[in-house]
Amino acid sequence: MSAAPGTGFRRYRYFEFIETHAGLLGVLIAIAVSFGGLAEIIPLFFQAHVIKPSPGVEPRDPLRLAGFDVYVREGCYGCHSQMIRTLRAETERYGHYSDAGESVYDHPHQWGSKRTGPDLARVGGKYSDDWQRRHLMNPRDVPGGKDSNMPGYPWLAARPLDAADVQARMKVLRQLGTPYRDADIAAAPATLQGKTELDALVAYLQGLGTALPAAGVHDAATPAENAP
Ligand code: HEC
Repeated sequence: MSAAPGTGFRRYRYFEFIETHAGLLGVLIAIAVSFGGLAEIIPLFFQAHVIKPSPGVEPRDPLRLAGFDVYVREGCYGCHSQMIRTLRAETERYGHYSDAGESVYDHPHQWGSKRTGPDLARVGGKYSDDWQRRHLMNPRDVPGGKDSNMPGYPWLAARPLDAADVQARMKVLRQLGTPYRDADIAAAPATLQGKTELDALVAYLQGLGTALPAAGVHDAATPAENAP
């Protein structure tokens, strides 16, 4: 069946009009693409798997929270991702792939995409505290680190943590959904007394990615190196 004479021609004229008006074409493309984006993004807001913490994932204690802030301030994100993909090469090297529920308390998330250095999503417990300290002071000082091109952060050891605003930060995070209790917030400044930014950053790194495999929520194919 062919269309009535004129119909196809008129439709052709619409297309020609759109295609010869770049601004209009751009707006219509943006609308079409945003539908695709919305169809992918909106369901994520309602999937428990994505917005609820994985079993074993707890809000950070104040010291680790302070360390998270140092990590963000120093831009470690620019060289390190915290997102292990579901590819064999990744899981063999870094451990179980990252689960969305592991980073629900990260504001802002530190997934990253640039890997000048290795992924850090499961670096917690990989080294001793002492190793982490020496490495952060000067990455070339640890065994095998002679050729590292990571910068040192020696000033972190000389800077005492600023405990003044930790309570305000915790309150804001609570508004964003991190379930800090009043008692946690009241006790926070005391736990930061006498600590340096280096202490906090090391504590933060040592907590990275340790909850999920220990909780045993994943399948039996969890790589052996992730065993609790
Ligand atoms: C200019 C890029 C760069 C920046 C910025 C950077 N790193 Fe690194 N990082 C590296 C490289 C390269 C390595 C691998 C060599 C080594 O271990 O020093 C590395 C290794 C590491 C490791 C050891 C990982 C492992 O599994 O062996 C940790 C932990 C680490 N970095 C933490 C940090 C932290 C925390 C910051 C921010 C304070 C930071 N890095 C900033 C490049 C960088």
